[in-house]
Amino acid sequence: MKETARLIVDGKTYELPIVEGTEGERAIDISNLCRDTGFITLDPGFGNTGSCISSITYMDGVNGILRYRGIPIEQLAEHSSFIETAYLLINGDLPTAGQLSQFSARLNDHSLVHEDMRTFFEHFPHGSHPMGILASMVNALRAFYPEIPQRSEEEEIDITFARLLSKLRTLAAMSYKISTGMKVVYPSHRLSYCANFLNMMFDSPVRPYHIDDDIVHALNVFWILHADHEQNCSTSAVRLVGSARVNLYAAISAGISALWGPLHGGANQAVVEMLQEIHDSGGEVEPFIKRAKDKNDPFRLMGFGHSVYKNYDPRARIMKEMCEKVLKKLRQSDPLLEVAKKLEETALKDSYFMDNHFYPNVDFYSGIVLRAIGIPLNMFTVMFAIGRLPGWISQWKESLDDPRGRLHRPRQIYMGSNKRDYIPVSERGQ
Ligand code: CMC
Repeated sequence: MKETARLIVDGKTYELPIVEGTEGERAIDISNLCRDTGFITLDPGFGNTGSCISSITYMDGVNGILRYRGIPIEQLAEHSSFIETAYLLINGDLPTAGQLSQFSARLNDHSLVHEDMRTFFEHFPHGSHPMGILASMVNALRAFYPEIPQRSEEEEIDITFARLLSKLRTLAAMSYKISTGMKVVYPSHRLSYCANFLNMMFDSPVRPYHIDDDIVHALNVFWILHADHEQNCSTSAVRLVGSARVNLYAAISAGISALWGPLHGGANQAVVEMLQEIHDSGGEVEPFIKRAKDKNDPFRLMGFGHSVYKNYDPRARIMKEMCEKVLKKLRQSDPLLEVAKKLEETALKDSYFMDNHFYPNVDFYSGIVLRAIGIPLNMFTVMFAIGRLPGWISQWKESLDDPRGRLHRPRQIYMGSNKRDYIPVSERGQ
């Protein structure tokens, strides 16, 4: 007999099914609670709510485990490429050599963006944040690439996936070039996905960009580490907006907007700003640790803590190693890496951080890798967005195929005024 949980309210007992995941996590299924009992559940921030059943990403926050489609993140970071990982997330299995080259060819075919999109870029006010621009441009893609009625739904979805994966990278590099007043560099069919991005960002007619395999590898790892993270804020936004059956571009645009926030993807920019502030104020980390612990100070140690990880974020461990490798390869040193290491060491000896399980997360070291590669600070969260795209796409696809899927519509408990009458403005006093 299947295990159930018992809920007793108003003297009546209700049996609630228990759902067990393939890794043994257990949940009480309350899908019919309201229908059967008239009660809803209250869970601000959804920290206790499973919004779906998913087969894409497994994370165990207590033990610091992350796997995409069952494969540990460490193995993917070591052996895979971003494009292969994107294929894995979207299709469920690693591609064969033939499938991978077909997928790459498809991305290459869709890598250019409509020339008219450039006029969009040119009319954003100077200094606009690239995340705002990216969210608008992605939403605008539907207007430039409308649905073609002759295509089957499956074909339309496949083309949209390829367009998004390929064009987001082109749009990001193009926005950087235009914002700096430089000539746009087009994607090349001779280069891989990551090499192409670096070339579009940094090549110029007067200073050709030299593609270094180790830097291309570092970018692959950076994007693999960001590729999915189950039901995080931006992915939940994509699923929620997608549940209204909007087109995929609009759903991804919502994800980009959610990612922009400093508590989510925007943290990678905020971390470097914080490290810079510590460095500029003399490099002492203790005053910042003190501020982070002060309940009356809104300051938080950026790049520390996580809603699910109560252990070292496995992505942060790989990213930290990557910092050292990239700086060594480029024969650079970054004073902010020294500040970061000192901050981590001090925080991890402090009972406030240890008792609350605040460890470095993926954003703590990622900015140092990006700085070394030459990515400007205001593009950091755009880099996160490009990386997270395969996750958003696969989660959107899964939600669409889910037979239990329905319009996302949470409930609330109303605690406002009871019924009262409308008072005409003339009777409301001054
Ligand atoms: N420094 C200082 N205090 C913290 C921190 C931190 N990094 N993180 C949480 N707290 C405190 C917070 O002030 C609050 O204190 P109080 O209960 O006294 O008000 C308490 O811990 C609980 O905070 P919360 O925001 O309710 O808890 P959460 O588990 O939802 O927080 C978090 C998760 C990531 C929003 C938070 O740890 C944080 O703000 N970290 C800094 C921002 C950051 O690095 N974000 C990137 C997350 S990883 C990338 C991603 O997936 O987007």
